[in-house]
Amino acid sequence: MKKIIVLILVVALLATFGVACQKDTTSDAKLVGVSMPTKSLQRWNQDGANMKTQLEAKGYVVDLQYADNSEELQVTQLENMITKGVDVLVVASINGSALSGVLADAAKAGIKVIAYDRLIMDTPNVDYYATFDNYLVGVLQGTFIVDKLGLKTGAKGPFSMEVFGGSPDDNNAYLFNAGAMDTLKPYIDSGVIVINSGQTDMAQIAIQDWAPAGAQDRMDNLLTAFYADKNIDIVLSPNDSLAQGIVASLKSAGYGSAAKPYPVLTGQDCDKTNVKLMIAGEQSMSVFKDTRTLAAQVVDMVDAILAGTTVPVNDTESYNNNVKVVPSFLCEPVFADVNNYKTLLIDSGYYTEADLK
Ligand code: BGC
Repeated sequence: MKKIIVLILVVALLATFGVACQKDTTSDAKLVGVSMPTKSLQRWNQDGANMKTQLEAKGYVVDLQYADNSEELQVTQLENMITKGVDVLVVASINGSALSGVLADAAKAGIKVIAYDRLIMDTPNVDYYATFDNYLVGVLQGTFIVDKLGLKTGAKGPFSMEVFGGSPDDNNAYLFNAGAMDTLKPYIDSGVIVINSGQTDMAQIAIQDWAPAGAQDRMDNLLTAFYADKNIDIVLSPNDSLAQGIVASLKSAGYGSAAKPYPVLTGQDCDKTNVKLMIAGEQSMSVFKDTRTLAAQVVDMVDAILAGTTVPVNDTESYNNNVKVVPSFLCEPVFADVNNYKTLLIDSGYYTEADLK
């Protein structure tokens, strides 16, 4: 009997020792580099935080860096991550075409690269892409305008509209624009929607770095040049940061009264500021892209890459980066407005009531 007890004790001790040893061996933990574009926009802070929490919960060590919207800084941060020996890189690019050199170094070091939200262009050295269906984001914005103004049910307007584009170095900007403009084209062609400035090319409408101030300036200029004697009915904004600048401009031009009602104004991201604008009736809609879902999808990709199993993708056709089609996972965006934001954003735990006060 004594022998058995001693044996059990020894086994228990060994087991404890073994477990303790495993826990202490952090050098085995894989290192994931996460490179985000900027802290200045709410969504990227959430993306970074979600990625870090979810990766750490799976036992990874995370090097999370923000590049202050500077493509040079992003390259430097990526170089540092490669030197540190990261096992996988997750990159939300600033300029999608500026990373060829540094990603060639990553490839040489055998590091797999996942493009996060924004496609990395002009390089063979991007392995996977996870995003929301960007064309669909534009379709949701266009469809909202069609529904809101009753265009399908015969409203003839004519309604005046101006179009804004995202940052010209972000591939997503072109897809948002294409989805919305394809949806609105029949009404533009038939004259129900009139773009008084005539500006629709990305070269004319793009706002560098998605800067609210850039959108505000352009809206000021449009209002002065084309709307001095009439109201604008629709502003197609691809995202919330531009919508913020557009609202500021409309406000200072006197919109928000019975004689000058706010135009139908689209957006994307459901930033807290913009949900408040929707509640106040100053922005009409946004597109909700649950960053928790995107982060979870990317964590699954990281897991599969490091385990050597099949990486989950659901689109192997749409995202050509000028060198190759990058296998992608597209999450689904949904439209949000003042009528459904509570269910989408509060009931799902994305925001609290207090966040939106
Ligand atoms: C993202 C949008 C975001 C924009 C500005 C795009 O690439 O898909 O969600 O609003 O960048 O940061």
